Amino acid sequence: MAFSERFLDELISRSDIVDVVGGYVQLTKKSGSNLFGLCPFHSEKTPSFSVSQDKQIYHCFGCGKGGSSINFIMEMENLSFPEAVAFLAKKYGMEVPDDSPDEYKGKRTRMLQLNKDAARFFYDNLKKPVGGSAVEYIAKRGISKELVVRFGLGAAPDSWNSLYDAMKSRGYSAEEMLDAGLIKKGRNGGFYDTFRNRLVFPVIDVRGSVIGFSGRILGDGEPKYLNSPDTVVFKKSKNLFGLNLAKKSKMGMIILVEGNIDVVSLHQAGIDCAVASLGTSLTPDQARLISRYTDNAVICYDSDNAGVKAAQRAIDILEKTGLTVKVLQVPGAKDPDEFIREKGPDAFKLLLERSENHIEYRIMAIRKKFDLDINEDRLAFLNEATELLSTLPNAIEREIYGSRVAELSGVTPEAVAAEVKKAYRKRVKAEKTKFERNSVRPNVTAQPMDKSLRYENVGSAAAEEGVIRLLLLDPSLISKTRELSRSDFTSDYLGRAFEEIGKRLSAGGSVSIPVLSESLSAEEIGSLTGIVQKPEAMGNYEQAMGDYINKIKTEKLKKDLNAAALRYRETKGYGDKYGK
Ligand code: UTP
Ligand code: MN
Repeated sequence: MAFSERFLDELISRSDIVDVVGGYVQLTKKSGSNLFGLCPFHSEKTPSFSVSQDKQIYHCFGCGKGGSSINFIMEMENLSFPEAVAFLAKKYGMEVPDDSPDEYKGKRTRMLQLNKDAARFFYDNLKKPVGGSAVEYIAKRGISKELVVRFGLGAAPDSWNSLYDAMKSRGYSAEEMLDAGLIKKGRNGGFYDTFRNRLVFPVIDVRGSVIGFSGRILGDGEPKYLNSPDTVVFKKSKNLFGLNLAKKSKMGMIILVEGNIDVVSLHQAGIDCAVASLGTSLTPDQARLISRYTDNAVICYDSDNAGVKAAQRAIDILEKTGLTVKVLQVPGAKDPDEFIREKGPDAFKLLLERSENHIEYRIMAIRKKFDLDINEDRLAFLNEATELLSTLPNAIEREIYGSRVAELSGVTPEAVAAEVKKAYRKRVKAEKTKFERNSVRPNVTAQPMDKSLRYENVGSAAAEEGVIRLLLLDPSLISKTRELSRSDFTSDYLGRAFEEIGKRLSAGGSVSIPVLSESLSAEEIGSLTGIVQKPEAMGNYEQAMGDYINKIKTEKLKKDLNAAALRYRETKGYGDKYGK
């Protein structure tokens, strides 16, 4: 079920793209009617993010993202289409009508309510005999009553169906519980609880809704943690455990740790800005989420090899969002939780004050790979270190850390500086060419930037793009496309876009990028926006449409003929060999 067209049209006209995007990105007027700014979706130094007020779309020539104000809000706020619609409706003073999609109206709300009730059930168990072993485990880990309440921790009893029964009696169906990942289907057709005999951590989003759960085994055993699967309301890669609390912190930073227990432990020590990434390695979405609440990120992962590797990756991802990144290593302990338990909160705070700048950290990580007493190794170290320094956007940083590298390798700072300069120039030049390639000659980029959308037949696809572009420019041209059908399209998503446009128009509706956003993925909308941005080469639209359709038909014919020829050759080959 979709939103009514009237409602969407009204919403789109009220939520002007310049206003919506302007709330997040500083836009300046540059050429023609387009506004430009630094893309919020990838890191860049020269603006390649454009906003067109006429077309009501945004498009980034650098990373290929694009779409309407609804898509923009979906990306920025990590929302689904209906949620983004609701978000904008609220912002621009509109009521979401009753006939809105189930996903928004029913299912989501209902699942959030179920999760909340389940969290309450787990929490209440702590006061009952069934929660005894969890209470014991909490005590063993040194978690105080206050923190149990603050995080809403709970106990999943050692039983196959206690949650199922409790939620059933509250009126939830098995299907609803299955969808929420709270129960699983057994072999004999029955159901059983997902979380059994575990300490339960509810995952709460920044709006305060319980969106999922994470359950730790009480003691040793496998799997150590069980997490809710991704659901309508829960995307592991887009949320962080503890962010609901950390976002209110006054510490001016967010500390990223590996474990849920580390988060709780840090909060208990008065360090209330810790979050964890729910058992996945940090994703760009999570990094962006962090950057919405702070400018400073501190990575404090476990001290084992896996932790060190994960920290390296996390640095890159966090840096790309413009965050200042530091790395804190806990000496003599396996993780922050153990460190605090052994050395106390003050020791941790001291470490925090002295936490290494990530550049220093990375230089030292490179250094560890080499034996600097050996000439060859020294050279290799220098090469890798200058490469790293050349990625620093700040000249002063490049100089300071250049001296540091010089000192480590016994070369003069000037020699290092010269090498860094060379590498830096090369990098800037490469970035510039890439930008120019993408923006100045947009029609030359024949392939969509997103790899999953790559065209098999570029010739046909260019014409298919033309058809879609023309239909968005002038929907009345749909009457000229009678002989064209989805199966003529070699690009699957363009074919779907074509079908969708046809459906909407024949139902008397309108077509525009915002309206199409509902039925296409973010990548597809991004690519489609790029297509609409390309100038239409031909002045006479009607004739252009005819030409494009001819081209598509010819390409299709060519393909069919080729296939036939191939079949013929195959049969012939067969005959030659055995038929004589
Ligand atoms: P850890 O094993 O470090 O867990 O995994 P922890 O929370 O620090 O627990 P303790 O202190 O050892 O008792 C880090 C995180 O990785 C995820 C969990 O989110 C955990 O908090 N994880 C771990 C899983 O999702 N599944 C697992 O089997 C293990
Ligand atoms: Mn851990």
